[in-house]
Amino acid sequence: MNIAVMPGDGVGKEVIPEGLKVLKAASEKFGFSYTTTDFPHGAEHYLATGVTLPEADLKAAGSHDAILFGAVGADPRGNAKIPQGLIETDILLKMRFELDQYINLRPTRLLPGVPTPLANIQPGDIDMVIVRENTEGLYCQNGGFLYKGTPHEVANQIEVTTRHGVERAIRYAFEYAVQYGRKKVTLVAKTNVLRFAHNLWMRAFEEVRKEYPAIETDYHHVDACCMYMVAKPKVYDVVVTTNMFGDIITDLGAAIQGGMGMAASGNLNPSRKHASMFEPVHGSAPDIAGKGYANPIATFLSVAMMLDFLGQPEAAKAVNAACRTVAADKANHTRDLGGTANTSQLGDVVAKLVRA
Ligand code: NAD
Ligand code: IPM
Ligand code: MN
Repeated sequence: MNIAVMPGDGVGKEVIPEGLKVLKAASEKFGFSYTTTDFPHGAEHYLATGVTLPEADLKAAGSHDAILFGAVGADPRGNAKIPQGLIETDILLKMRFELDQYINLRPTRLLPGVPTPLANIQPGDIDMVIVRENTEGLYCQNGGFLYKGTPHEVANQIEVTTRHGVERAIRYAFEYAVQYGRKKVTLVAKTNVLRFAHNLWMRAFEEVRKEYPAIETDYHHVDACCMYMVAKPKVYDVVVTTNMFGDIITDLGAAIQGGMGMAASGNLNPSRKHASMFEPVHGSAPDIAGKGYANPIATFLSVAMMLDFLGQPEAAKAVNAACRTVAADKANHTRDLGGTANTSQLGDVVAKLVRA
């Protein structure tokens, strides 16, 4: 397998080398070979070169079997030298859109031994998979300004919803439930207000679910979903939702599963026409970058998702199991989990467990 490696900025540069340690251990243990190609893109690269992600590099990365991605982005408080959102849209979203990675799969699972801010919760109570539509919605950059800078300024940011896009996301959620033995699929949207776009979501959901009579279904408005995620996370099994709502509820999901350092994701092109991209859900975390204690478990879990997608399910299982073992032992907790372990120490421990 050929892996494009794009660590990006901030803690992305700290967690990806650890992910590569784990990948190497898995390849040795399970006897598959792989090559890696490094891609330097990100905010820092932009400041040094003036480029975000040129077409040729996008094509090159997209022709690998998979992309292992860290995080890109400047400090959210602003960097005068970088136009707001340029790095995120021109690198990360460009890959998701151009490589047609239409599913953003984000498992939200509380591993035993990991502290959660929720009270009276057992690990099995938080075990859901969020299927986020990844190529449409409010993320399309469809819109613009009128009379910019005047008191009459108009800004439009148009939510794009297509039958094709919605249906394939919903169908993926049901297929995932069948393949992984999940019992229920919940649609999360806002049909009470977004009476066009989310009406289309609801109609597509109503139709597709008929093809899967064995799977239980439910619908929640997104505001209620946020409440249930905190008050009763057990109600969720597979969740399918829009791009923007998926972004928001998966940070909430990350919080209840122990923080951003625990949340993994795969940006999938299920047709396999272009590379799929695997990345921790978190960003470049400028507040802790360079300190050496970012939690790399989200990256390891993303490596496991990549291995599963690339036809190495045993290796994926071993990496997942190693993460469970590591998470259960306080001695391996990084600062975000209340411990003192550092990033590279965790890479070593997980690699060793995978080899064992
Ligand atoms: P963030 O996810 O980077 O950080 C949010 C909080 O979580 C911070 O307190 C941070 O310290 C903590 N955190 C994140 N990752 C952690 C880890 N591995 N271990 C321990 N703690 C961790 O979100 P933000 O601060 O809103 O965004 C920072 C930059 O990253 C922005 O430029 C944003 O656009 C970008 N971003 C990029 C991606 C991506 O590339 N996939 C995702 C989210 C945000
Ligand atoms: C994520 C991130 C991205 C998103 C940003 C950086 C564009 O927050 O992967 O969740 O909004 O999808
Ligand atoms: Mn996000």
